[in-house]
Amino acid sequence: MAPIKVLDKYFEKYIDHKEIDAAIEKIAVQMEQELAGKNPLFLVILNGAFMFAGDLFKKLNFPAEISFIKFKSYSGTQSTGTVSQLIGLDQSIEGRTIVLVEDIVDTGISMEHILNYLEEQDFKELKIATLLFKPNAYKKEFNIDYIGIEIPNDFIIGYGLDYDGQARNLKDIYKIVP
Ligand code: HPA
Ligand code: MG
Repeated sequence: MAPIKVLDKYFEKYIDHKEIDAAIEKIAVQMEQELAGKNPLFLVILNGAFMFAGDLFKKLNFPAEISFIKFKSYSGTQSTGTVSQLIGLDQSIEGRTIVLVEDIVDTGISMEHILNYLEEQDFKELKIATLLFKPNAYKKEFNIDYIGIEIPNDFIIGYGLDYDGQARNLKDIYKIVP
């Protein structure tokens, strides 16, 4: 199949939407076994995870809540440079089972950042779900509870993942043509 062009780069089809759907189905079954009856609160990390979260949430057959969080970067007023702040968490997570929903975990640095923010809160337990995982890029120790598909260290787009804001709307996942 001919590569597609996004901004200045070319990408080729890599993971078909049917394979994505099967991976999400597998996660939903695992969640049903482990989370049903706990009324978990799914915290979706925007922007990338919106599509995965929507498709996953539709497959869950037990009571659960969903809410959306994101990192907002802004320039510090003094010499602090760029600061980031976790926004969107507008409810108490005290005593709750939390499921963090990511599109992709690669180095694990941004997930660790979120865990540090949530650490101060008195939740009951926390699970991590990611559609995609790059084991060769991963540098952290924390356990990832739900993984859809493990992939090599190539840059990918589509199904919520972007290149410079573009291509989140693609229903399949594409990888960069070197
Ligand atoms: N593509 C898009 N966004 C990302 C990636 C990727 O491969 N890894 C981490 N964020
Ligand atoms: Mg991105």
